[in-house]
Amino acid sequence: MQLQSVNLTAQQVVDLTNKYMIETYQRFPFIATRAKGMYLYDENDQPYLDFYGGIAVNNAGNCNDKVVAAVRDQVGEIMHTFNYPYTIPQAVLAELVCKTLGMDKIFYQNSGTEANEAMIKLARKYGTDNFGPEKYHIITAKKSFHGRTYGGMSATGQPDNACQLGFKPMLPGFTYADFNDLESFKNEVTENTIGIMLEPIQGEGGVRPATQEFMTGIRRLCDEQGILLMIDEIQTGWCRTGNIMGYMNYNIKPDIVSMAKGMGGGMPIGAICTIDRIASAFNPGAHGTTFGGSPVCCAAAYAQISELLDHGLDKNAKEVGDYFMEKLSALTHVKEIRGVGLIVGVEFDFEGALSIKHGCIDRKLLVTAIGGNIIRMIPPLIASKEDCDKAFDILNASVEEAAANI
Ligand SMILES: Cc1ncc(COP(=O)(O)O)c(C=O)c1O
Repeated sequence: MQLQSVNLTAQQVVDLTNKYMIETYQRFPFIATRAKGMYLYDENDQPYLDFYGGIAVNNAGNCNDKVVAAVRDQVGEIMHTFNYPYTIPQAVLAELVCKTLGMDKIFYQNSGTEANEAMIKLARKYGTDNFGPEKYHIITAKKSFHGRTYGGMSATGQPDNACQLGFKPMLPGFTYADFNDLESFKNEVTENTIGIMLEPIQGEGGVRPATQEFMTGIRRLCDEQGILLMIDEIQTGWCRTGNIMGYMNYNIKPDIVSMAKGMGGGMPIGAICTIDRIASAFNPGAHGTTFGGSPVCCAAAYAQISELLDHGLDKNAKEVGDYFMEKLSALTHVKEIRGVGLIVGVEFDFEGALSIKHGCIDRKLLVTAIGGNIIRMIPPLIASKEDCDKAFDILNASVEEAAANI
C-alpha cells in the first residue's frame, strides 16, 4: 500500500495509528513505505541507513530479491492448509535446517516467543515423560530475554522490566542465575532440573556475549547432570554472529535450539530443532499450531537461508563486524563496546541513548536504544565497511550532540 493508493496524507496515517492502535512502541518519526537492501525509505522516499534490521530480522537484506520471489510464487500456489497435508516448502526447509545444524528434527512456529514456548514445553514433556512429574525445573540467566508470552516471559530473568511488571504471577518452575557465572548456575541445580536455557549473547539485556569458559562449563554441567541445554538463537541465529548459530562460536552443541527473526527474511516464522530422542516427547496431540509451518513462510525461509549460506553472510558478518567494532572505539564517551559479528552494542558513560538514537534518526541512520545508555546495532548482514563508515560518522555526530546537551 502507498499513500496514493489509499488516498491518505502522511499525517492522516499517523493520526489513524494513534487513534486506533494500542501503542506499546516508541515509533520512529516517519512512515516506512518501502525497503531495499541496506535502506528503508520514508513517505518522501528519503533513504534511512538500516542498522537495526527490523530487530535482527532482515539478515539477507531488506526485501531480498530471492525471498520476495519465493513469497510471490508461493502465495499464488497455496497460502494456507493447516498441518494436515504434506507441503513441499515444509519438507525442503526441514531438510535444509536440520542438515545445516546437524539436528534430526524441526518443529515450526510463528515467532520467537512461540519457538521458546515450544522449547520449554518440549523440555518439560521430555522431563516428565522420562523422569517423573516433578522434573520440569528450568534455569535461565538474569538479564535474559526470551519473549512476551507467559513461558517466554517467565524464562526471562528481568523481574523489574516493563515486559514483566503488572503481569505476575509468572509460571512456576523457573529460577535465575548470574550470566557468565558457572557457580551461580550450579547452585540452582536441583534433582528436578530438566533444562538450562540461555542466549549465547544477551541481546535485549544489553549485548552481552557469553564467555567461552562459561559455555564450555555449562555444556559439561548439563552432560554430568542429565540436563538439557536449550539455546535461544532467536536474535543471534542465522549468521549474525559470524557463524550460522551463535553457539557454534563456542564449539558446543545444544540439545534443543530455538530460532526465528533472521530465518524468514521478514516473514513470521520460528522453529525449534533437536535430536530424535528428545523430539519423540512431542507425540500426536502434544503440541500444535494453526499457522506454524505456513507454506508461504517456509518458502520464504528456504530462500532466506539459502541466500545467507550461498553468499557466506556469516563470514561477511564477522569481517564487517570486526571492522565496525574497531572503528567504534574512536567514539567519545564510550564505556564499553560489546558484540560478536554484526550484533554490536555501545555502552556510553552517560544516560544519553535515547537522544543519541534520535540524533541518528534525524541524520538518517536507524539504531535502537537499550536502557538509558546502550545503543545496539543489528543491521542486515549484507552491510559493507562503507556502510559502517557512514554509520560511524552519523553516530559520532549524534553522540557529540547528545553529550553537549546533557
Ligand atoms: C533472544 C530472544 N528470544 C526471544 C525473542 C522473542 O521473539 P519474538 O519477538 O519474535 O516473539 C526475542 C526478541 O527480541 C529475543 O531477542
